[in-house]
Amino acid sequence: SINVNDPQLITLVNKLQDVFTTVGVQNPIDLPQIAVVGSQSSGKSSVLENIVGRDFLPRGTGIVTRRPLILQLINRAPPASSQTNGVNGTLETSDKEANVDEWGEFLHIPGQKFFDFNKIRDEIVKETDSKTGRNAGISPAPINLRIYSPNVLTLTLVDLPGLTKVPVGDQPRDIEKQIKEMVLKQIQKPNAIILAVTAANTDLANSDGLKLAREVDPEGQRTIGVLTKVDLMDDGTDVVDILAGRIIPLRLGYVPVVNRGQRDIANNKTISFALENERNFFDNHRAYKNKASYCGTPYLARKLNLILMMHIKNTLPDIKSRISTSLQKYSSELTQLGDSMLGNSANIVLQIITEFCNEYRTVLDGNNQELSSIEL
Ligand code: GDP
Ligand code: NA
Ligand code: MG
Repeated sequence: SINVNDPQLITLVNKLQDVFTTVGVQNPIDLPQIAVVGSQSSGKSSVLENIVGRDFLPRGTGIVTRRPLILQLINRAPPASSQTNGVNGTLETSDKEANVDEWGEFLHIPGQKFFDFNKIRDEIVKETDSKTGRNAGISPAPINLRIYSPNVLTLTLVDLPGLTKVPVGDQPRDIEKQIKEMVLKQIQKPNAIILAVTAANTDLANSDGLKLAREVDPEGQRTIGVLTKVDLMDDGTDVVDILAGRIIPLRLGYVPVVNRGQRDIANNKTISFALENERNFFDNHRAYKNKASYCGTPYLARKLNLILMMHIKNTLPDIKSRISTSLQKYSSELTQLGDSMLGNSANIVLQIITEFCNEYRTVLDGNNQELSSIEL
């Protein structure tokens, strides 16, 4: 899988949800929220878009992201009917990626389904302007977007305005403080995973993203360093020392990436173009070709997946005790209904739990080595 929505993990989480619903435990797995922080134009929106694997965020030079975007990915099985017929003629199918099983919906326009992801981007721009004006204003009021798809993990991602220092346009004099507070609010939640984004052609010691991440996560237990614009570094320079932890070490390490440049955006280059270009870059660069498998968006997604799996694994003891509590309650209710029925139903529940344990053991233990190597 090239993005954070690893099919194996989606299946695991869905199985767990099913089992828990069966035994009466609601929403057992509250997956951590993933938020991007960093300076303006460091590439935060680009990174987020690449890990989701869809084109839908406004990106560009200058302050483009001016309100937080809370993006909820919601896993939803395709309706049986949509697999056989393409359904209705009202769908906006101008985008050849349009797919009736995947759509976006904004909290501020309830009920309106966006099947064309380019229109999602247009709506984000429009809704940003409506609250902040067109002259670079910002607002802490988030835009809430949900994406429903059979191919996503139920997960929340947060895109944030970049940290800036000097007010421009209609920005208030205390813009730096305002953005900082806005960002802190999103990343201080103890289970938020922070993607601290720094452009590789700037000095890591000046990284606003790392600085802010450190304020809320001093031990670096939930901060991943992301180095963007590795393609724009001066000839003869590279990020090898940073990756090796010799500059500012981070427990979860750094991942170098190459996103689409401004010209690629202007030319509507696709995500698959971007990922192929990135792969070619790392595979052929003298400094990275020996460790190309630890470079690029797919590796960042892999790392995120492992962290999510680790989170699930750490949550399991608590979930298990909740299951056994509801199982006890369930059994005593069944006892009152008579023995033969108890035997049957309890067996079914036990069988489901056994299946679930086998499932998670294969998935989680299969990744044990990789999990321990990222030292969570
Ligand atoms: P944000 O302001 O941090 O959200 O950054 P954006 O994702 O909007 O990107 C800002 C600008 O940097 C855009 O013009 C992108 O095309 C460009 N950009 C982002 N990442 C990269 C990268 O890895 N390489 C190159 N060449 N350009 C990038
Ligand atoms: Na920008
Ligand atoms: Mg942005």
